[in-house]
Amino acid sequence: MEGPDGSGKSTQIALLKEYLETEGYDVIITREPGGTVISEAIREVILNKDFTEMSPVTEMLLYASARAQLIAELVGPALEEGKAVISDRFVDSSLVYQGMARGLGVEMVYEVNKQAIGKYMPDVTFLLDLPAEVGISRKKDQKELDRMELESLEFHKKVAQGYRDMAARFPERIKTIDATLPIEEICGIIKGDVRDILSAM
Ligand code: TYD
Repeated sequence: MEGPDGSGKSTQIALLKEYLETEGYDVIITREPGGTVISEAIREVILNKDFTEMSPVTEMLLYASARAQLIAELVGPALEEGKAVISDRFVDSSLVYQGMARGLGVEMVYEVNKQAIGKYMPDVTFLLDLPAEVGISRKKDQKELDRMELESLEFHKKVAQGYRDMAARFPERIKTIDATLPIEEICGIIKGDVRDILSAM
């Protein structure tokens, strides 16, 4: 599940988990950066709002490190056991936030992340698309903003547009959904797509 900050990923993930469980799947939810003890420790460093001096390359490597540990420790073994894995963000977040919005370049960020993810790529990625302004104002109402969320509106606009560019580049894998639609409607679209994918497997 991908999308700008405040796009409603967690809500949709919880609903998709319920659906997959009623279909008989053993489901694991992970979040990035995080999901293991080491990855959560890296998350604390990345999102600490006092670390304003963090360089873009450091940031990219930390996200990739958190991801490498998550795949090695949790996601890889779960998939090998036949479980369904729903990830709150994955490599597209790095391609968009670090590759595009920070300007490091999608190709380089992908090359580095290949080391972290190995053979694992999602069967489907849902992009919850919404204007940057809406996402950030939703976040402000929910919690204290972290280092990434405190970035400029210009940065968040690059993120929102970056996701749309990624979706245009990988139309087979990335399904774009208007995140301003009602929760139930979004959930219905996701379930429909997942049902189709599972029946084709
Ligand atoms: P997230 O956990 O979605 O934030 P929250 O729980 O506060 O909603 O993501 C943390 C932030 O990290 C978010 O602003 C997006 C950013 N991010 C990247 O820049 N690159 C990445 O590879 C990932 C996984 C997240």
